[in-house]
Amino acid sequence: MKKIENNLMEKIVSLSKRRGFIFQSSEIYGGFGSCYDFGPLGVELKNNIKKAWWNEMTKIEDNIVGLDSAILMSPKIWAASGHLTAGFADELVECKKCHHRFRKDLLEKDKCPDCGGELTESKKFNLMMKTFVGPIEDEASATYLRAETCQGIYMNYKNVLDSMRLRIPFGIAQIGKAFRNEITPKDFIYRTREFEQMEMQWFCDAKSADKFFEFWLKQRLAWYEKLGLKKENLKTYEVPKDELAHYAKRAVDILYNFPFGWKEIEGIHNRGDWDLSNHSKHSGVDLKYEGYFPNIIETSVGADRSLFAFLTDAYEEVKGGRTETTESAKEMEVILNLSKKLAPIKVAVFPLLKNKPELVERAKSIYNDLKKHFTCQYDESGSIGRRYRRQDEIGTPFCVTVDFDTVKDSTVTVRDRETMKQERVEAKVLTEYIKSAII
Ligand code: GAP
Repeated sequence: MKKIENNLMEKIVSLSKRRGFIFQSSEIYGGFGSCYDFGPLGVELKNNIKKAWWNEMTKIEDNIVGLDSAILMSPKIWAASGHLTAGFADELVECKKCHHRFRKDLLEKDKCPDCGGELTESKKFNLMMKTFVGPIEDEASATYLRAETCQGIYMNYKNVLDSMRLRIPFGIAQIGKAFRNEITPKDFIYRTREFEQMEMQWFCDAKSADKFFEFWLKQRLAWYEKLGLKKENLKTYEVPKDELAHYAKRAVDILYNFPFGWKEIEGIHNRGDWDLSNHSKHSGVDLKYEGYFPNIIETSVGADRSLFAFLTDAYEEVKGGRTETTESAKEMEVILNLSKKLAPIKVAVFPLLKNKPELVERAKSIYNDLKKHFTCQYDESGSIGRRYRRQDEIGTPFCVTVDFDTVKDSTVTVRDRETMKQERVEAKVLTEYIKSAII
């Protein structure tokens, strides 16, 4: 089956809307500044990605604990971290003719990409989103929406160390929203102003920092492959010294082959002792451990951006369809080859015919049992082939059909999306059957 690459981006955007994965925010008002909402299937998929990451970090890996820190924090943090100064600013240029603004580093030529006009000299533009806390809007009440979740981890490093009786090396993992006033948000959910990060900060001594950097890079690449991203669509990029973020001593990006090219989905950073030494200096609180500032190896990935990569990788079109009972040979069938773990709906239940009460009743009873364990859909409309297609398009790994034999011998047909194999399974072992397949 050949994957059709044409207009892949538009196809993914269209599928996302058509099947309830991703909608534009504030759509009835014409959308809002590159913000997106996750629909019923999108939120399930994103939750599954976050759960897979959380399990990997806090359960499978050793010595990592979780945290959920506040989005709003003292503005002093952002002064100490370097985010309020030039370190966290992009070079902004403006077209003298159409007045559109662009990030200088993303431009291929010295001319306006929209109208060819001449561009102004570049200016630094800080990406922090400012807000006010309390009833008075003045500089004393100003603070910022966090631009990276890891600062909340540094704020709690000592609390966690002491309360959990940990010893270095150990890690703290956190998932949460981050905000950046991006100059040129673009490419659907790739670069947005509000997004979710999944960050893990590994605290270690300076001697072992290089070794842990390599370890975490390897682990993170393996995680994507384990969840089904094709190896050939992943690669790494050593960030040159002069392009490193202000906090980083070394950075390797994990890149994914998006429809618009190879782009970063995750960064592995050696932050040295930048964070803890600066926060010690600015707060006056000693954040040393056994007389030294721990070094930090960070793994940082966008939940939304990785979801985009998983969707892209899973998307497949088959002309004429691949289901046995294809009604129109000319139709294009869309299949989302999501891993069973990530699929938003795990199982769909169909009565063979909707006008046979004995089948409908049995199918609804099976559906009611299964939905206690899995995200399920019940569907009785259209031919079985059509119903398979609907589920294939959203990546559902299993479809269960209740037919006349079910009434006689309590078995059902289970159809596997990946192999399209159909198996007769006893209804009473269905839960275990599906559970063991999606672990
Ligand atoms: N704490 C380090 C840090 O934030 P980063 O490279 O700026 O590093 C890490 O961001 C990850 O966060 C990126 O690889 C990307 O997945 C995600 N990310 C960053 N900016 C984003 C944006 N504007 N929209 C969506 N995701 C973004």
